Amino acid sequence: MTDGTPVHITRQHTDVDTAEALANDVRAGLSGAQKTLPPKWFYDAVGSELFEQITRLPEYYPTRREREVLERHGADIAQQTRAQTLVELGSGSSEKTRLLLDALTFEGTIRRYVPVDVSDSALIAAAEACAGEYPRLEVHGVVADFVTHLEVLPSGPARLVAFLGGTIGNFEPAARADFLSRIASTLRPGDAFLLGTDLVKDVDRLVRAYDDAAGVTAAFNLNVLAVVNRELGADFDLDAFAHEARWDAENAWIEMHLRSLREQTVHVKALDLDLHFAEGETLRTEISAKFTRDRVAAEYAAAGLRLAAWWTDSAGDYALSLAVPG
Ligand code: AVJ
Repeated sequence: MTDGTPVHITRQHTDVDTAEALANDVRAGLSGAQKTLPPKWFYDAVGSELFEQITRLPEYYPTRREREVLERHGADIAQQTRAQTLVELGSGSSEKTRLLLDALTFEGTIRRYVPVDVSDSALIAAAEACAGEYPRLEVHGVVADFVTHLEVLPSGPARLVAFLGGTIGNFEPAARADFLSRIASTLRPGDAFLLGTDLVKDVDRLVRAYDDAAGVTAAFNLNVLAVVNRELGADFDLDAFAHEARWDAENAWIEMHLRSLREQTVHVKALDLDLHFAEGETLRTEISAKFTRDRVAAEYAAAGLRLAAWWTDSAGDYALSLAVPG
């Protein structure tokens, strides 16, 4: 099938680290007044597949819009960066990455692709597929939480660090500022950062993108409870929670919650922990912030980065921006 260079996979964490991190997040996130869980726990094999289905929903426009921007401006990105290494944070299925790889192959500069993802299954499949399709490309997949492992990613000249899909919207403002500063400090002169951001728009469209008619986003949201059940021996009843998506105008973000349909106590065996839910109480599972150009430029500046280019789709729904050091 492929005679290209074999795929090289590095793991920054073991299954034990993963279970430990989930245990910490469950302990910390489910003991406060507003229960929360970080969205990275959505993405086991089932959750990664559900997310792929979300990207094809009629209501979920960001993936298609981002693809449009990459189709229209991939050549600009390649010409402006002349990247030799593409590091992709949260690469998932790497589906849209092919547009970038094509443009960088045409430009003649790309040598290496480093997809980084928390999901083992998604990463290995994507790395192998890319190695097959680009036989001259060195593919080095890294299974890692890119938030904690940013500093240990492969280095080298002319790196383009891409963070697509709008996943930066998952960070709270303080964590986002910290993340952008750390990106800035890993970039050398000649490197660049390519960021995908969903933009502020009509509230109904935003909410529907996170509450689709077919219920795929609901299944994706509820899957996080199945992950906690499996990994930590909890006994969440998925039928006793309902999916909810709301717009927070003040913070300019979508929130996803799971609402407890009755008063209930959930036992987490591995932590010897009882979690009490009042009827109607919610567990917040995700925030997805939406941006404007001014806000992105200001956040880059605060982090020591400079906005070098800004591209949107024809409808102005979604932006890719390029940032460079200082
Ligand atoms: C993968 C984080 C970009 O926030 O739009 C999609 C995840 N959650 N539907 C997003 C998601 C619900 C998605 N990101």
